[in-house]
Amino acid sequence: MSRASESSNHARFKIAPSILSADFGCIVREIEAVERAGASYVHLDVMDGRFVPNLTWGPKVVGDLRKHTELVFDCHLMIVEPERYVDDFRKAGAQIITFHLEATPHAQRLLAHIRSTGAKAGISICPQTPVAMLEDLVYDADVILVMSVNPGFGGQQFIPRSLEKISQAKAMVREAGVSCEIEVDGGITLENARSVIDAGADVLVIGSAIFDTPDCAAATAEFLAI
Ligand code: DX5
Ligand code: ZN
Repeated sequence: MSRASESSNHARFKIAPSILSADFGCIVREIEAVERAGASYVHLDVMDGRFVPNLTWGPKVVGDLRKHTELVFDCHLMIVEPERYVDDFRKAGAQIITFHLEATPHAQRLLAHIRSTGAKAGISICPQTPVAMLEDLVYDADVILVMSVNPGFGGQQFIPRSLEKISQAKAMVREAGVSCEIEVDGGITLENARSVIDAGADVLVIGSAIFDTPDCAAATAEFLAI
């Protein structure tokens, strides 16, 4: 492989800014800024105060933001009984809908249902859940979201063991021969992003390291330059 194609391979990762850490007083401006800087998705963290000890927003907010950007809406549902709300988020404009394996007993059925709505279907695992639990589900998923912190809050420390899980997820997807993106969420910084990409991540979800900075566009560009 030539040097040029090696580096273009490495550059193929996507950035998904998580607006959990954004300033909602000027949210549209912040989304426009990261879009101009080269972000691929807007990552929308939906929390219900039950699956995780925090609350965020529902489909109304997703639908309102939908009018202001062309970026792909990547909805991360951290809620119990996600099957009750998937259709509402889809109607609001979510294009990727990811739920937690730990939040429903019928994950395969829900993945298939999400795909049937025309959205991409994602499944996420918390730090305590082994990647092997996804072995029978990769065929029905477009995205595997490896949580590298315990879900619920931005600004937490990356759990080092996650690197091994990212590699395992990548190997599992390769072995199954499916095209499923490996997305990683939580504690990603300019210091550890390289190792997350090298472990096999296709999409980096980044909250505080983009929005808790003076210039979210510059921070996005810095990640893309890695
Ligand atoms: C945490 C959320 C994340 C969060 C990441 O439960 O799923 O998307 O916004 O934030 P950082 O990048 O600050 O860890
Ligand atoms: Zn998230």
